[in-house]
Amino acid sequence: KTIRFDYANARAFVKQHEWEQLSPAIEMAHQMLHSRTGPGKDYLGWVDWPEQYDRDEYERIRQASVRIQSDSDVLLVIGIGGSYLGAKAVLDILGHSFYNLLPKSKRRFPEIYFVGNNISPIYISHLMDVLEGKNVSINVISKSGTTTEPAIAFRLFREWLEKKYGREEAKKRIYITTDKQRGALKKLADDEGYACFVIPDDIGGRYSVLTAVGLLPIAVSGANMDALMQGARDARERYMVMDLRDNPCYQYAAIRNALYRKGKTVELLVSYEPQFRYFAEWWKQLFGESEGKDGKGIFPASAEFSTDLHSLGQYIQDGMRHLFETVVSVTKPLVDLTVQEDPADVDGLNFLTGKRMGYVNKKAFEGTVLAHVDGGVPNLLVEIPEATAYYLGGLIYFFEKACGISGYLLGVNPFDQPGVEAYKTNMFALLGKPGYERQKAELEARLRE
Ligand code: PA5
Repeated sequence: KTIRFDYANARAFVKQHEWEQLSPAIEMAHQMLHSRTGPGKDYLGWVDWPEQYDRDEYERIRQASVRIQSDSDVLLVIGIGGSYLGAKAVLDILGHSFYNLLPKSKRRFPEIYFVGNNISPIYISHLMDVLEGKNVSINVISKSGTTTEPAIAFRLFREWLEKKYGREEAKKRIYITTDKQRGALKKLADDEGYACFVIPDDIGGRYSVLTAVGLLPIAVSGANMDALMQGARDARERYMVMDLRDNPCYQYAAIRNALYRKGKTVELLVSYEPQFRYFAEWWKQLFGESEGKDGKGIFPASAEFSTDLHSLGQYIQDGMRHLFETVVSVTKPLVDLTVQEDPADVDGLNFLTGKRMGYVNKKAFEGTVLAHVDGGVPNLLVEIPEATAYYLGGLIYFFEKACGISGYLLGVNPFDQPGVEAYKTNMFALLGKPGYERQKAELEARLRE
């Protein structure tokens, strides 16, 4: 049992020679990645990470998670972008859909809330309401240590924590995940004596879910991080093969580029399980930040079916033909329910009596794929046997590697993100940050025009 990639429903859109012609390009991308000669070569630590991660730190993460589980009702995870989405994605897939709301008898571990991923005073004050009377620990995650959103949230929650516990006790409840040596957060952690975990220099935010960035919250939730790492380790091995015919990860990278070249410029990551919502958010960051540059790149979007078939469905079936879909699916749902007979049959659903909902969902999926292909939307499928930590580790690695290879096929540096700075510069200038005086005057004049 392993991850399955199936592009049968995209074959009609890509000719055999187009496919074959990508083979040498894939080999070149593979060489660039593995010999570390391509652009962004200093950020390839994630490639061998599942094999080479720091075992001592891993043990410290485990110990910290046990401590948080024993002394906290709530873990607040403060971070944004790559310092947030991976953990949220894993927690949602491996955890209960209503994890935080489960009665204590059914939830052995702390509630987990993510914050510092927006600048909303409403979100933060509402979260503070939820914390009343609860024991809280905080994991602040920021590689740079200076990102505005998490920094503001940390200020507020550190004050909250110190008010509740006093400064000394609060210190024992703050866990920092940041750069090994640099940054404001690292300095603060050293000054205050907070427990500290490392984001390796050579792993960028969007590739960091399998480092302490993702692992501490994941471990606190009780998910099996050993299996997650094992899944990634096995995937690393499997997707090392250079031959396009034998490497599903490279096939995915190749085919999405073939589609892009013929005008399919939007990729929809689709799932039929709401638990995959944040996996899609993680995937969007991974591909959007890696490929959207130099005036190029597939726009990564997502949809949740069958929910969005009742909204976006019309456009997908019938709108502008610049789309392709990648469905992430799970062969066997972890739990299933059976449709019961209703003697009155007012809704006319008795033909489904005795059928499992998983089966109904599968038929919705099969019917949709065929309809969308008929409507001109190529469909790719990435399927995992079960939504377990092991397969999720593999799936994460599958997309990370495909993204690196795909970025090199596209001819961009998949490991930088210069574009995310523009809004920050403007925001700092408008807020009057020292050093931005000239931009402030210019921007304010433009806003007044
Ligand atoms: O992928 C990235 O580099 C970004 O999305 C970052 O993860 C995000 O901006 C957060 O940065 P930091 O961890 O430095 O706070």
